[in-house]
Amino acid sequence: MNASPDEPSTAPDSPHRAPRISRAWRASLLRFDKAGQPLFEADGMLVTEQHGNAPARVLAGGEWASLRRAYPDVPVTDLTGYLIAPGFIDLHVHYPQTDVIGSPADGLLPWLNHYTFPQETRFAERSHADEVAAFFLDQLLAHGVTSALVFATSHPNSVDAFFEAAQQRRLRMITGKCLMDRFSPDGLRDDTEQSLIDTETLIGRWHGQDRLGYAITPRFACTSTPEQLRGAGELAARYPDVWVQSHVAENVDEIRWARELFPASRSYLSTYDDFGLMRRRSVYAHCIHFDDTDRALMRERQTAAAVCPTSNLFLGSGFFDFDKALSAGFAHALASDVGGGTSLSPLATMAAAYHVGREGQTKAGLSLSPSRLWWLHTAGGARALDLEGVVGNLQPGCEADFVVINPKATPLLARRTAQANSLDELLFALIVLGDDRAVVQTVVA
Ligand code: GUN
Ligand code: ZN
Repeated sequence: MNASPDEPSTAPDSPHRAPRISRAWRASLLRFDKAGQPLFEADGMLVTEQHGNAPARVLAGGEWASLRRAYPDVPVTDLTGYLIAPGFIDLHVHYPQTDVIGSPADGLLPWLNHYTFPQETRFAERSHADEVAAFFLDQLLAHGVTSALVFATSHPNSVDAFFEAAQQRRLRMITGKCLMDRFSPDGLRDDTEQSLIDTETLIGRWHGQDRLGYAITPRFACTSTPEQLRGAGELAARYPDVWVQSHVAENVDEIRWARELFPASRSYLSTYDDFGLMRRRSVYAHCIHFDDTDRALMRERQTAAAVCPTSNLFLGSGFFDFDKALSAGFAHALASDVGGGTSLSPLATMAAAYHVGREGQTKAGLSLSPSRLWWLHTAGGARALDLEGVVGNLQPGCEADFVVINPKATPLLARRTAQANSLDELLFALIVLGDDRAVVQTVVA
């Protein structure tokens, strides 16, 4: 991209106050209102302001002509022809599975045993974790993803490596050490008591540092003893602002196994509830094979689902029911689930979600419109993380994480978007035909 920003303007300040720096961009602008409806300006302006070292925040967004009058002196980067949209949020992804993408298997459990666990064992070595964390985060940025809820491995080192790399890039990222004290191979299996001590140490070291947050991370019920799940639930109660993440109801063999291991629980999902692991800021990946009681429990506990359509199609796990999630009223948003997922691109994930939505469609009309899909990967992800108004949108006060998208990035995309007559047509063309080539710049904080 040729456009180079002008010098930012620095407001005069007393020596005791951090300087305030304002900047602006001119481009098409996509944001969302509180109801999740898109707000679109074909000729828009985004104004940000930065105080000292804090992340820059959005000061204003809107139509160019009127906003420029309100901010006549702020230096502007002219990106006419491009689309500025909120940075994407990946609600569930495994950074240590970067080298597992595209490993085919009969289903989840053989895939874990043959490909995933052996790769994750390598993260005992700090230098390997550092190298993969840096590569992974640069890939997220190349795909326009600015925040994510991420699985590390069971090695505390893998958490340190990830947070250090995220901190260097000033990203808002959440991760945690996998808890897995049974049915896991040597080199990955942790010790019940030590795993809980390590989790608490990592919370103290990282949670709330800069833009980083910790997630208590039992891998899934099948690889944790009841003692480990109980300990995780106690930590979840003691640290209510820390996130909780796990997997649930992904695959029929996994469900059968979980039911055998925890027969006293009403369902696989309620196993987590029985150990105090469903609360605000809990996010469960997949949530495919639910009944209505499970869905009601998700809503009651203010727990969110990370929907992973490329992973579910690749591993043959099943189809998330968007209609039932919406009518039950529990939070859900989109995720790549790399390495079960096949792409880090939110555009690819949205396309797969559209196909999955059609599969389960019971009502007339599009089950998932393009602007709804886009919301589910931005502001909807922020809502699922209890970070609404912080990331995932470009409303005043939000942290200024955004993507600059080129609707003419490839000849086919240029040809198709030139004929788009509405916002939905433009977004659909990007979702169906776009990839990381359409993301020309990712701006963080
Ligand atoms: N269930 C337990 N671990 C995993 C994992 O790494 N990926 C997926 N997709 N499901 C899981
Ligand atoms: Zn996963």
